Amino acid sequence: MSQIPNNSATLEWPAKYNEVPKEVFERADLWPKELENIFYGAEWHPIVHQSEIPNIGDYKAADLGEIPVFAVRGEDNKIRIFQNACTHRGTTLVTESLGNKTEFECPYHRWLFSPEGELVGCPNSREFTPDFDKKNFSLPTFRTEEFCGLYFITMSETVAPLKEYLGENFYEPLSRILGGDGRLKFIGYQKVHYDCNWKAYCDNDGYHAPLLHLAFKMLNWQGGKGVQNVSENGHLSFESELKIPDDITALKDASILDFKGTETSTGSIVQMQFPLTVYSKHMDMLNIRYAFPKGPKGIEVHYAYFTHEDDDDEMIAHRIRQSSNLLGPSGLISMEDASVFSRIDKGNKTPGMAIFQKGVKDEYQLELQVGQNDESGNLPRWEHYRKLMGFKRAEA
Ligand code: FES
Ligand SMILES: [Fe+2]
Repeated sequence: MSQIPNNSATLEWPAKYNEVPKEVFERADLWPKELENIFYGAEWHPIVHQSEIPNIGDYKAADLGEIPVFAVRGEDNKIRIFQNACTHRGTTLVTESLGNKTEFECPYHRWLFSPEGELVGCPNSREFTPDFDKKNFSLPTFRTEEFCGLYFITMSETVAPLKEYLGENFYEPLSRILGGDGRLKFIGYQKVHYDCNWKAYCDNDGYHAPLLHLAFKMLNWQGGKGVQNVSENGHLSFESELKIPDDITALKDASILDFKGTETSTGSIVQMQFPLTVYSKHMDMLNIRYAFPKGPKGIEVHYAYFTHEDDDDEMIAHRIRQSSNLLGPSGLISMEDASVFSRIDKGNKTPGMAIFQKGVKDEYQLELQVGQNDESGNLPRWEHYRKLMGFKRAEA
């Protein structure tokens, strides 16, 4: 896919690095350019963890921007990611979000594909063009890389290999979220539609957590020491110690807050991979948030939760209880996010700028050294976005 914008949408960016024009959340005309320059551009996107499709023939459907894709585990136990479109006239082959099939049949004219993506059957092929050859009609795949069992794809031929793209400050903590060695077991999803532009969803920060989320106060939950690492290409990684008070009276049964802290599971890590994937490990919860923009308005987030293959039954039960009660759209420590996302969406219809303050030392400089809970950590990501979109920054 071409890297040249197919859309001329433009916007003047303010001179100050801590200001973001609110119209960036509202203008539908930016979406085609975001698809072309970001989602189909030089970024890697996670699609599936191997534990989500553990058996031969298991598949998972997802989207890359507006392009439907699906991952499937072949007879040879390899995971491949294909465009979810028949090579005849383009009908999607998979409609369920998860399933198992030994073959993928297109309903329109019954072309049949193997889990390895080969075209193995097509009715009436003697009447096709003289040089028709099934071999030329395999399902198109993507440039794919795997890290700790997580499979990423990109449409770019030029983006750096995955580990270089993520950087050590990002992939090392990510390996710990993924159990240290990727030997995870999938528990299940919570799926939610947030009523906002995709960029508002991923503009979340560490500043808000103890202020917005009432459970932090209710549980007398203090954040411990920690760091926030940011990169020029928009990734961000927070890590902190967790201090769970022993005298929690607000809950009848406080055992959901037990922190068993297995070797691969210490502290709290939250990571945001550009453009919009979040990974987290709070206490004993291991979580990937796959996110799918639904055009310029609305975003669907699939919270996927995991245990580790070495967990005993008690640890599995504990992780399930903790995951379903604490995180996600109805989680004790995150439920207010949905409401704020839709309030930001409404409020951003007003003119002017969204202004970042916490941690900003110089409005005219981009800072890559940021404190643990500074919202200035979001600014390198905005700068990366601005550059990818080709928006000119005003003179100071
Ligand atoms: S579109 Fe799939 S068989 Fe015709
Ligand atoms: Fe939050």
